[in-house]
Amino acid sequence: MWAVSETLDLESFRAEARQSIAAATSTEGLRELATALMGKRSPLALFSRQLGTLGEAERKVLGQTLHAVRTELESELDERRTVLAEAELAAELESGKLDLTEFRPGMLPSPQGRGHLHVVTQTRDELEDVFVAMGFTVAEGPEVETDWYNFGALNIPPAHPARGMWDTFYLEVGESESTLLRTHTSPVQIHQMEVAVATGTLPLHAVMPGRCYRRDTPDARHLAVFHQIEGLVVDRGITFADLAGTIEAFTAAYFGPDIHSRLRPAYFPFTEPSAEFEITCTICHGQGCRTCSQTGWIELGGCGMVDPAVFAAVGIDPDEWTGFAFGFGIDRCAQMRHQISDMRALIENDVRFLRQF
Ligand code: PHE
Repeated sequence: MWAVSETLDLESFRAEARQSIAAATSTEGLRELATALMGKRSPLALFSRQLGTLGEAERKVLGQTLHAVRTELESELDERRTVLAEAELAAELESGKLDLTEFRPGMLPSPQGRGHLHVVTQTRDELEDVFVAMGFTVAEGPEVETDWYNFGALNIPPAHPARGMWDTFYLEVGESESTLLRTHTSPVQIHQMEVAVATGTLPLHAVMPGRCYRRDTPDARHLAVFHQIEGLVVDRGITFADLAGTIEAFTAAYFGPDIHSRLRPAYFPFTEPSAEFEITCTICHGQGCRTCSQTGWIELGGCGMVDPAVFAAVGIDPDEWTGFAFGFGIDRCAQMRHQISDMRALIENDVRFLRQF
C-alpha cells in the first residue's frame, strides 16, 4: 500500500494513514489496514529499522516521533474499530431480524389452526336460533332414560308393536322398569310437560335438542349415535294449521326461501294425526336427483298433534289444552344444508373434512 522508499517521509505517512483509517468501511478491512500500516513489512517498521543508522540525537528525536505516531495510529484504529463493529452488529441484527407477524406458507412451520365448533354443534346452534326467534325456549333432558319416559308415557306400552320403530340400546332390563339410551328426544317432552304441570307454567313452547341412540348399522344417511331436535307447543286452541305453519316458517328460515316443506300422513304413537315432514331436496332444488330418489323431496322428521293419551300420562286436561310436536335429525339438517354425501364423515373426526365448516 505504501511504497517503502527512502523518499517516504513520516509526516505524510501519518496523514495518509489517518485518512485510510477514517475511510475504512469494515472491521475486516481495518484489520488488513492495521497490518499494512504497522506490521513487520509496514512503513512504520521500516522507519524503526532506519533508527539504527542514525546518530544518537537524531535517533532519539525520530524514536520519540515514531512512538507517538504508532500510539496515535493505534488509538485511531481502536476508535474506528469500535465504530465499525457497532455498525456491523447493528446491520447483522437488522438483517437477521425475525418479523414475528410475518407468515409465508412453507417457510415457517405451519401455524396451529384455531379450532372451531363441530359442524353438528354449529347446526344445533343455528336451529336453536331459528326457533328462539320464533318464540320457543330451549330445554334439555337426560340421555339415559327409563322405559316410561322413552316409551310408556309416549303411548307406547311394553310389547307394543310400535317399539319396533326404534332399535333400542337397553342398559338394564327389569321386571317393572328398564333403563335405556333414549332413542329420540320425545321423552324430553314428557319431562317438560311434567315440570309445567307441577309449576303451573303452561302454556309451553319449547325446542329440545340432544343426542339419541339407536341400534342401527351406520350408513350414508344414518348414525347409531345422532342428534335430534324436538319441538313442543302446548297451548289453548292449537291446530294442525299452526303445526304446518311452524314447520314451513322454520324450513324457509333455516334452508332459505326457495326450500319448502310438505306433510305426508304417517303414524307415531304419541301424535294423532301424525305426519312425516319433507323439505325440497337441497341438492337438486326439487328437480329430482339420486339423493332424493328422483322425488324432489327429502324426509326430515316426524310431527303431529299431541295424542290425548300423552296428555293423560302427564296430567294435562286435553279439553283445555291442545298441542303439536315435531322432531327431526340435526345431523340430517347439516347433511342437507352442506350437501354432505355420507353422514359417517360427521363422526370420523377427519380434520380435513371438519375444517371446511
Ligand atoms: N320422536 C320421533 C322419532 O324419532 C319423531 C317425532 C317427534 C314424531 C315428535 C312426532 C312428533 O321418530
